[in-house]
Amino acid sequence: MEGIAKKFDIKEIREDFPVLHQEINGKPLIYFDNAATTQKPKPVIEALMGYYIGYNSNIHRGIHTLAEKATNAFEESRKAVQKFINADEAEEIIFTYGTTDSINLVAATFGRAFIGKDDEIIISAMEHHSNIVPWQMLCEQKEAKLKIIPINGKGELILEEFEKLLTNRTKLVSVAHVSNALGTINPIDRIISKAHEVGAKVLIDGAQASAHIEVDVKKLKADFYSFSAHKLFGPTGTGILYGKRKLLESIPPYRGGGEMIKEVTFEKTSYNDIPYKFEAGTPNIADVVALKTAIEYVNELGKRNIEVYEHELLQHATSLLSEIPEVKLIGTADNKTSVISFIVEGLHHLDIGMMLDAKGIAVRTGHHCAQPLMNEFGIEGTVRISLSIYNTKEEIDVFVDALKSIISKWK
Ligand code: ALA
Repeated sequence: MEGIAKKFDIKEIREDFPVLHQEINGKPLIYFDNAATTQKPKPVIEALMGYYIGYNSNIHRGIHTLAEKATNAFEESRKAVQKFINADEAEEIIFTYGTTDSINLVAATFGRAFIGKDDEIIISAMEHHSNIVPWQMLCEQKEAKLKIIPINGKGELILEEFEKLLTNRTKLVSVAHVSNALGTINPIDRIISKAHEVGAKVLIDGAQASAHIEVDVKKLKADFYSFSAHKLFGPTGTGILYGKRKLLESIPPYRGGGEMIKEVTFEKTSYNDIPYKFEAGTPNIADVVALKTAIEYVNELGKRNIEVYEHELLQHATSLLSEIPEVKLIGTADNKTSVISFIVEGLHHLDIGMMLDAKGIAVRTGHHCAQPLMNEFGIEGTVRISLSIYNTKEEIDVFVDALKSIISKWK
C-alpha cells in the first residue's frame, strides 16, 4: 500500500476528539469500540452547536430567513453524501434514522411492492440482526423464502454457494459490505453483478464500511446502499439510504405524514417526488447538517490514508494477538477492515471486557447483534476490538499487555 500523506497526523487527529482525553478508572481511556460508534471531532460538535445557537428552524416549510438557512444546510448535506458515495444525483439520497431504519424502509416499500409468495431473498450468514429480522418479518408476511449464503472457517462468504442460491425467484440480495463482528470485507462487486444476472436487486449494508473504505455506488452498481452517520464521526440518529432514481420512483412511500405528500384530500393523497416521498415528518435536522462536517473531516484526511493507517493498526494488533496461545481469533479473512474478534480459552468474553474496562480500555463483548454468525462458529460471543483513525500502535501494545496480565491472573 502507498504511504501516508503528511496531513494524516495522528497527534493532530487525536487533538480533534475531546472525549479521548480523559481517564477511565484512573487510566487513560483507550477507545476500541469504534464499530459500535465512533467518537466525534470538534468540528462536528461545533456544527451541531452552530445550528442550535445560530439557525434552529424547521426545513422546507418556512419562508423566513432562519428556515431558509436551515433548509440550505440540510440540502447541502445531501449533496455532500451524494459526492461521498459517488451517486448520480442528490435526490437519490434519503435521510433516515440509521442503517436499521434504511433497511426497514427497503423491506417496507420495495418488499411491499415487489416481493410475493414463493419469491426469494438472499442474505448471508454474517449479517447483523438488522439485516436479518426485517427480511424474516417480510417473508412471514408475504410467504416468501429467506436463503443464506454460507461462510467458510475464516469468515468469508462462499461465492460458489451464493451462485447456486440464485434463481429466477430471487428478488433481492441484501448483504453487509463489511461484517461488524469479523471485519470481513465482502466482494460485493461480484455479488451485485451475479445478482443482477438473474434480475435481482441488491441492498448493501454499508454501516461498517463507510468510515473505513472507499464506497462508490456508481462503480458498484448497487441498487440500494445504507449507512449511519454515527459510525462515520457524525451524530447518532441519522442514516442514509441511497437508491437508484428509477427504483426509488417505482416503490411506494414508507411512513405517511407531512413533507412526503404533494396534495392531500380525504379521498386521495398524491405523493411527493424523491427523496421527500420517503422523508415524512421533521427530520433530524441538526444531525444531518453536522453529518456534512463529518464527511468533510473524512475527506480532508483522505479515505486512502485512513485505509492505509487502519491496515497498519490491524496488522500490528493481529500479529500481537496471534502470539498469545490462549487467544483464538474469530474471523481471519484475507480482506479485512480493522475489526478483530477473539475468544480466550477458559475465560468468558464478558469478564474479559469488564477487566479491560477496569484498565480504561473500552471493547465490545457479546454476540454483536449477529447471533446466527456466533452459532456458525459454535460460540456465544467474542471480545471485539474495532480500531479507528485516532487509535495508535501504542494503545494496542497497552491493550495486549493488559490482556496478557488478565489471562495470566485468571486462567
Ligand atoms: N452494530 C453495532 C456494533 O457492531 C452497534 O457494535
